[in-house]
Amino acid sequence: MNPIIGQALDRADGPAKVTGAAQYAGDFTASGMAYAVLVQSTVAKGMITGVVQEAAQRAPGVLHIMTHLNAPRLPQGGKAAFEPPAGRMLSLLQDGVIDYNGQPIAVVVADTFQHALAGAAQLRFSYEQQPAALDFTAAKRSAYAPKKAGKEDADVAWGDAGAGMGRATERIDHVYATPMQTHNAMEPHATLAVWQGDQLTIYDSTQGIAGARKTMAKTLGLDPSQVRVISPFVGGGFGSKGSVWSHVVLAAMAARTLRRPVKLALARTQMFGPVGGRPRTEQHVALGAGGDARLTAVRHDVVSHTSVMEDFVEPSATQTRMLYATDNAATTHRLVKLNVGVPTFQRAPGEATGTFALESAMDELSYALNIDPIELRLRNYAEKEPHEGKPFSSKSLRECYRIGAERFGWSRRPRQAGTLREGNELVGWGMATATYPANRMPASASAKILADGTAVVRSATQDIGTGTYTVMAQVAAEALGLPMERVRFELGDSSMPDAPVSGGSMTVASVSPAVQAACLDARAKLIEAAIAPGAPLAGATRDDVTTGDGWLALRSDPSRRVSFARAVGGRGAIEGKGEAKPGKEREQFSMHSFGAVFVEARVDRDLGRIRIPRVLGVYGVGRRLNAKTARSQLIGGIVWGIGMALMEETSLDPASGRVVNASLADYHVPVNADIGDIEVVFVDEDDPHVNPLGAKGIGEIGITGVGAAVANAAFHATRKRVRDLPLTLDKFLV
Ligand code: MOS
Repeated sequence: MNPIIGQALDRADGPAKVTGAAQYAGDFTASGMAYAVLVQSTVAKGMITGVVQEAAQRAPGVLHIMTHLNAPRLPQGGKAAFEPPAGRMLSLLQDGVIDYNGQPIAVVVADTFQHALAGAAQLRFSYEQQPAALDFTAAKRSAYAPKKAGKEDADVAWGDAGAGMGRATERIDHVYATPMQTHNAMEPHATLAVWQGDQLTIYDSTQGIAGARKTMAKTLGLDPSQVRVISPFVGGGFGSKGSVWSHVVLAAMAARTLRRPVKLALARTQMFGPVGGRPRTEQHVALGAGGDARLTAVRHDVVSHTSVMEDFVEPSATQTRMLYATDNAATTHRLVKLNVGVPTFQRAPGEATGTFALESAMDELSYALNIDPIELRLRNYAEKEPHEGKPFSSKSLRECYRIGAERFGWSRRPRQAGTLREGNELVGWGMATATYPANRMPASASAKILADGTAVVRSATQDIGTGTYTVMAQVAAEALGLPMERVRFELGDSSMPDAPVSGGSMTVASVSPAVQAACLDARAKLIEAAIAPGAPLAGATRDDVTTGDGWLALRSDPSRRVSFARAVGGRGAIEGKGEAKPGKEREQFSMHSFGAVFVEARVDRDLGRIRIPRVLGVYGVGRRLNAKTARSQLIGGIVWGIGMALMEETSLDPASGRVVNASLADYHVPVNADIGDIEVVFVDEDDPHVNPLGAKGIGEIGITGVGAAVANAAFHATRKRVRDLPLTLDKFLV
């Protein structure tokens, strides 16, 4: 029988999504529900000195206006938090302090959404304004070292980078910059808060229901058992929904005060500020190489901005600590504080921006050495993790380069830049390395085989558009021995067995081993039932029983078989439980996905307009559990990489700190017309160390390397090196 795992199956939740049956957070209703609108500050720093609310109070349908003057006092006081950066410093109307333009300062609740909007428009605030820190360059003078950069130390060094640089015969030394960016998931954030006595249920668009439950409980002074979080469908998260933001708590506060359910949905414009985004980075990269093109030293010093409220670090130097072999390296992260919303994880936080700098610098070094960019990378190939010397659990990067070069036609690429032309277009080919860590966290699941011969498998995980419903059903069906259509996988309810946040590309790696364990447990119990005295397979040994396609049968005598339904019999259901967590292998091995991205860029000689007719990405990501959803993930990542390379930039008004392009009309993301051919190729990998399923994670690696590959292709076309994203046409006009 064909294995179910790995097949290119359609999404289990596809029909529900295209017919509108899938309920997203904003689709839920509750009886007596009121509608809340979030009101935001219009200054970047200062104090609220007055609130004029009479007109708003008299506006039709307005039920409640919550400001810092009347908001319920929270046990944590001030700004509640739960272990930043997983939890955030929130704006919960506990005082009149303004830290950024766009900060939540009030919630207006009415009987209809329209009434709430109209009421909110009547609300007036006066402020005592203070000078705000809005200029990154100026703020750099007070840059400081954060405690950590992601999970790693802010500063990591080995060998002697200064001495290594001194020995180099070629040096590259430049600053690369990436702008502030904003997630633009199709589904904006939304929360419906429902209280029943002291029990709170929230329907929320979140990447982490377990984390949301903990944060809500801690912030509101409740026991976690008093909070239930429901989130069956999420229309994209990308890190923005990886932590609880102010509006979620504010909805619960308003609902408690009003004693009725309150729904608070953010408008698209409100996604730019109060729910995170990617911080600006300025990355100083210095590479030294000898005549053999080996790296004698690598330096990567990162400065990124955070909010005045909390330290969030974009850990852009982390890949520089593991990607290339060198005896001498020094990497640092520094922060500058600005009066902006707290930045957060945004798809491949660290690697998305960091590979732009490192892989651009490697390209520059290849020209300085007059060596092919792939050859340069092969000369510096890390056979083991270069800092601690650990072996990689699996690494097929060499294969990725080789297959990519072959399929892209790399051998036809002229070494010299600025030599390919077609009509009025300058044509260039560039490449870069992609990488992202293979993360994993503890998870649990349950599996119930029902008397009708179907199974229901549950875990409190999320499907943020990635395919969790589908992939987990595949894992479950195969472990149980049932056809796919007889397995229902349920997720998105914090009352189910615990699972981690769907971030860090680790849902499949974490949850599928738990699902498999739960199903194997249920299957073992089913077999016990089937071989018990008087049961259909009585007298057989456990090991003699196989399962497949909904049947239990004896290996020794396949004619003796019984259906799952009959084996469950009068018991009603047979239930198994499973837990899975990472172990010592995490200390023994360095675990990462790798890939190679190849890009063709075409730049209009007169207009500077840049287009990307084709991209090829070749990846080693361990085992793919669903060939179709895996490919879709990588394509999505590459598309975003093109957006990051060519378009995306959140622009602040330097005077007011207001985001001036806070809409999809003004903040450009790629549309179909911007995207040419994208080809994704996988290198088969068997990684026995990462987790029992061997899947290394695919949610984030797709965006990595793309920015550099585009910039490198653009240089190859034009001989113009652009070191600050995005690569807008003005940067190619001379
Ligand atoms: Mo991802 S940025 O860890 O959701």
